[in-house]
Amino acid sequence: TKRVAIFLSGGGSNMRALVEDMTGDHPARPCVIVSNVADAGGIAWAKARGIATEVVDHKPFQGDRAAFEAELSSRLAAHAPDIICLAGFMRKLTAGFTDAWAGRMINIHPSLLPFYKGLHTHARALEAGDKVHGCTVHEVTAALDDGPILGQARVPVLAGDTADDLAKRVLVQEHRLYPAVLRRFAAGDRSLLTLDS
Ligand code: GAR
Repeated sequence: TKRVAIFLSGGGSNMRALVEDMTGDHPARPCVIVSNVADAGGIAWAKARGIATEVVDHKPFQGDRAAFEAELSSRLAAHAPDIICLAGFMRKLTAGFTDAWAGRMINIHPSLLPFYKGLHTHARALEAGDKVHGCTVHEVTAALDDGPILGQARVPVLAGDTADDLAKRVLVQEHRLYPAVLRRFAAGDRSLLTLDS
């Protein structure tokens, strides 16, 4: 059974979808939930379920990303993860960390990569007049939102959509896509998974 560390910065709805799927014949189990934000909703949820948590606030490191990542690594060591899932973790990771986890770390991003790397993906898709939008799970490499794509889910963009409407529609698909990709990834399957809503 693979041990999965999940990194988040916020509410952690994707983390919850992953944890709730890791039962029965799933090839992995959660070993720790890691947050850079002490009061992230996802941390309280994990604690209430008896899942180990680690909070590593980035602020005391004052932009020293290597020192922040060294602390992340030392906190992770005790939990011996095989796989890291980034799930709304809003800090960029440097090559020092991504190289150490190459092929063992995945992320969910709220766009159909390679479109709209970075932030404000829903507003940017609306502004471009896209008719289709969605989310992507990919392997994490040193370049932001750029590693090999493992899965994508599409949603329609509807007339009158706001960025919030679109974010909600995409998030529903994130909660389907990420668990489905993790199941395959933990079993060694890196072939592309495509979902339509
Ligand atoms: C999700 O939409 C995720 O795709 C996005 O943040 C949200 C986290 O929600 N991630 C990024 O933008 C990564 N740059 P959650 O905390 O409820 O899972």
